[in-house]
Amino acid sequence: MVSIFAAMKILMVCLGNICRSPLAEGILKHKAKQAGLDWTVDSAGTNGYHVGEAPHRLSQKVAMANGIDICAQRARNFVPADFDRYDKIYAMADDVLDDIKRIAGKKYDAAKVDLLMNELYPGKHLSVPDPWYGPEPGYHEVYDMIEAACSRLIQKEMTKTD
Ligand code: 4NP
Repeated sequence: MVSIFAAMKILMVCLGNICRSPLAEGILKHKAKQAGLDWTVDSAGTNGYHVGEAPHRLSQKVAMANGIDICAQRARNFVPADFDRYDKIYAMADDVLDDIKRIAGKKYDAAKVDLLMNELYPGKHLSVPDPWYGPEPGYHEVYDMIEAACSRLIQKEMTKTD
């Protein structure tokens, strides 16, 4: 069957690629599959401190509690070539957006980048808080924010008229 929906390639980016963006990757992949969308979803980090590591155990726990298994993911660095590989790049927070600009250099394309939360609250420029230093409730808060933004993304795609 030929899908009327575009085969989008989406990259989720945070600092460490172990707490927020692995959740965003897992949630959007799950929702796109449920919706029958042929989307490629990946994630990356801007600080390189955790390259090769699995997602934080609390991100894994919260994802699993919601029926999403993210344990096979491994952290990688965001690189300038990601602008060639992806149609859309979502930053989890404003400091991540600054890093993306700095790392991408000449490859930076503002049309491809946005804060994920602008999908839910356009123009508000809200950041998904970094749960890294805090206890488990922070991971649930982050999950709920990302889940709501990803639901909106899918809903927008399914109701597109052009
Ligand atoms: P993330 O959280 O960006 O959501 O993966 C962080 C994880 C680790 C660090 C910072 C943020 N760190 O500095 O090690």
